[in-house]
Amino acid sequence: MKNEEDNFIEIRDLHKRLGSQDVLRGIMLDVRRGERLVIIGGSGSGKSVLLKHLAGLFSADRGSLKIDGVEITNLGERQLAATRRKLGYLFQDGALFGSLTVWDNIAFPLRETGLKDEKLIDEQVTAALEAVGLGGHGDKLPGDLSGGMRKRAGVARAVVTRPKCILYDEPTSGLDPVLADAIDKLAVRIQEQYQTTSVIVTHNMKTVFTVADRVAFLRDGVIDFLGHPSELESTQNQHLKAFVEGRSAEQDL
Ligand SMILES: Nc1ncnc2c1ncn2[C@@H]1O[C@H](COP(=O)(O)OP(=O)(O)OP(=O)(O)O)[C@@H](O)[C@H]1O
Ligand SMILES: [Mg+2]
Repeated sequence: MKNEEDNFIEIRDLHKRLGSQDVLRGIMLDVRRGERLVIIGGSGSGKSVLLKHLAGLFSADRGSLKIDGVEITNLGERQLAATRRKLGYLFQDGALFGSLTVWDNIAFPLRETGLKDEKLIDEQVTAALEAVGLGGHGDKLPGDLSGGMRKRAGVARAVVTRPKCILYDEPTSGLDPVLADAIDKLAVRIQEQYQTTSVIVTHNMKTVFTVADRVAFLRDGVIDFLGHPSELESTQNQHLKAFVEGRSAEQDL
């Protein structure tokens, strides 16, 4: 019998309007502790907006969002900070500080936790850099890295504090297939090593099959499908089927 304690994240009837668009229209979703949940959906369907709600960067218009048992929809900045510390966030665009070296970017969240022991910071930053294959690149500025290297630096920054939950927004976009596979495997390894809960937004079906314990399909502002990746092949949901097979609705192009 499952109970609330089994869920790290609980989303109930979450709504968000941005400009003139109802982006989220009643999201219902639980993320179990320690699972890897992958969210797929078309470009512009609201995946990044949803992830930003989980990270406390957007606040919902309506509905409930619990993170680690705490309702965060009406929290002030100070209380939200405590929740944010439980989360690592890989932004879709990397969002590294351009004026800081890669090394300092990755040390940043560690310092934010109040850690002052430079030897410990050095050890943890070095380990995070090596885990993403960027050992030896710490002295570079983000602008001097390739797109894929910036992405990996973002992953290192998201995981360096060993948060309870990591939110990945498109971790493999812009990477070659071999690097993408390495990042997928890294996400699995981190989750297995630290029992981290992981929420991974992606377009990449290979990521779904490598990483997902469960997969959620976001469409028209709601979770239109939630299940095991093995269910994708035989799904009767035509929109999901088209997405999985990479087929557009246009028949006569
Ligand atoms: N800050 C904002 N202000 C107004 N509209 C926004 C804002 N952020 C996102 N949107 C809109 O919300 C919708 C969903 O955007 P979102 O970035 O979540 O899409 P996505 O599913 O992540 O797409 P992609 O796969 O291309 O990254 C889009 O129409 C976008 O224009
Ligand atoms: Mg996005």
